[in-house]
Amino acid sequence: MKKADARSRINELRLVISHHNHQYHVQDKPEVPDAEYDRLFRELSQLESQFPDLISDDSPTQRVGAKPLKQFAEIEHRIPMLSLGNVFNEDEMKAFYQRVLDRLNIQEINFSAEAKLDGLAISLLYEQGKLIRAATRGDGQQGEDVTLNARTIKSIPLRLIGNDYPSVIEIRGEVIMDKQDFMAFNEKQKISDSKIFANPRNAAAGSLRQLDPTETAKRPLSFMSYGIGYYSDDVQFESHSEILDRILTWGLPVTTERRRVSTVDECIGFYHEISKKRADLKYEIDGVVFKVDALKFQKIMGFISRAPRWAIAYKFPPEEEITKVVDIEIQVGRTGALTPVARLMPVFVGGVTVTNATLHNYDEVQRKDVRAGDTVIVRRAGDVIPEVVSVIKNKRPAQSKAFCMPQNCPDCGSAVFRSEDEAVFRCSGGLFCPSQCIQSIIHFASRRAMNIEGLGDKLVEQLYREGLVKNVADLFELNLEQLSSLERMGDKSAQNLIDALEKSKHTKLDKFLYGLGIREVGESTARALADYFGTLELIMNASNDDLLAVSDVGPVVAENILAFFKESHNREIITRLQTHNIRWPENIKTADTSLSGKTFVLTGTLLNMTRDDARNKLLGLGAKVSNSVSKNTDYVIVGDSPGSKAEKAEKLGVVILDEKAFESLLSSI
Ligand code: IVH
Repeated sequence: MKKADARSRINELRLVISHHNHQYHVQDKPEVPDAEYDRLFRELSQLESQFPDLISDDSPTQRVGAKPLKQFAEIEHRIPMLSLGNVFNEDEMKAFYQRVLDRLNIQEINFSAEAKLDGLAISLLYEQGKLIRAATRGDGQQGEDVTLNARTIKSIPLRLIGNDYPSVIEIRGEVIMDKQDFMAFNEKQKISDSKIFANPRNAAAGSLRQLDPTETAKRPLSFMSYGIGYYSDDVQFESHSEILDRILTWGLPVTTERRRVSTVDECIGFYHEISKKRADLKYEIDGVVFKVDALKFQKIMGFISRAPRWAIAYKFPPEEEITKVVDIEIQVGRTGALTPVARLMPVFVGGVTVTNATLHNYDEVQRKDVRAGDTVIVRRAGDVIPEVVSVIKNKRPAQSKAFCMPQNCPDCGSAVFRSEDEAVFRCSGGLFCPSQCIQSIIHFASRRAMNIEGLGDKLVEQLYREGLVKNVADLFELNLEQLSSLERMGDKSAQNLIDALEKSKHTKLDKFLYGLGIREVGESTARALADYFGTLELIMNASNDDLLAVSDVGPVVAENILAFFKESHNREIITRLQTHNIRWPENIKTADTSLSGKTFVLTGTLLNMTRDDARNKLLGLGAKVSNSVSKNTDYVIVGDSPGSKAEKAEKLGVVILDEKAFESLLSSI
């Protein structure tokens, strides 16, 4: 690049970066994802290192962070709070590693490797073990006094444990909000019509910066240490990992995701290990930090502008990116739910190319005010479905129109309705709606249901639209000839599908049940039903009371199950599936005993066993356990404070046994 071009690009970048800095650090309202900011910053740093005489004092690369907010008192950090250099791939990591060895002129080195917590940095000043002051990072030199707020965070001790700490010490770390806390907190905010935060980091930052500490106290914040700032010389440390170990003993949290590593392969291995664990961690992390462990080496290496030379952040691929909404379309799910989906300009985020993002439901689209043509921030974290986080409003085209929900199903044209207690709009078409049929077949074939390998979304759609398959039972009537005649389907793939269909016939009751797609019967409810009843027949004929006896089943689910099996169409499909020999190991724990086939009802509290135990024992002896008393009941077992069932049993003349009699009946078998 020519110098004149570089100058104008540098000026442009400085303006943009300063703007984003201000939005992020001062206003708490970032307009771009970190990845974009990092990219702009790197571009500027690179240009400045290429043309060093263009560096000026006011460049964002020459100062740390942004100006502190005005409302909090300003605090000068005794030792500046630094930032970290970044690397984004193995080559850059290897280069950093080599730089460290070269600079120290050594062959071997230890690093403290730690998860990089995605929160807000603060420095806690302890004097004689007492928490005196807490300050945010601010611009690195001066931060804001958030002592009163920090004191409300329960993981920050007001007094250190033990007596081996320096008389004065600044403990530094990150204020964070755990993922679960964040979701619950946002839910609460939504209900009270208060501000919703895009991610846990913004929520933590917004919460710590509340001027009213009682407000901060209501927010689920936590803290994790990653190092120290100033400390008095009455205590000496040798290494960074020793410091972290000591901090732990003083009663402050330190991430468990840390280890001492040595070779560059170990460094990279640790990075991969942590990225695998990332989705399961309680809190958000955005990379791994490697710090030269020995303090004497840190001292030799020193700092470069805003960051230490002895540490680096190896960042994960960004989970948020910017792209454009090409259009908003409606997807019709298997239960008729209409989900608005944003069709996006393809964007690489969270390690994959994303072209669609869910907008969840109409309320969400309205709240975020997403429109076709908008520039948006898209997020894809772990295996979670990509979603639109927010709209960058100042990039909205002039003539854009707010999104409206259609009044008719875009697929079958049936009326769209919304029940009072639901957020979703639904198509009223039922089995008349091709989308609902297709989606229910896709669900049936999916991995966690019948696991019909090779029967993906596209193929199901093709089979349906060609008229070969209208419901799940039709799948098993497909023949080789029909399949090979399909477009893009070779003989081999056709045979593979036939084989996969055959293989899928040997399944498990809970998978089959889940595959039926009964509303609100997810995997765990399906499992609970299968465990409880043991056979499909018992589930299909269960009464409302019987169903309610299953631990996972509430009134709504029970109603859905009853409604599903009442529908003759559903029963027919199940019969057809059974004629195709779809089977599972029957789960009746029967033994041939004198209780085989007898029906028991349990009521009241048993003293020596739980009701579940009693139930399982009876099932194991071949008996049936029902939840309601009828003339078909053989025995009612009555525990403490029995309900109306005992009365009913008496009226019907059913044999009533108390716990003792029940126990002797069991032991007599
Ligand atoms: S060390 C002298 N360790 O990341 C080095 N920072 O991007 C100072 N961060 O300002 C930082 N986890 O707010 C360090 N394990 C960790 C960290 C960590 C998160 C934050 C910290 C820092 C920022 C730099």
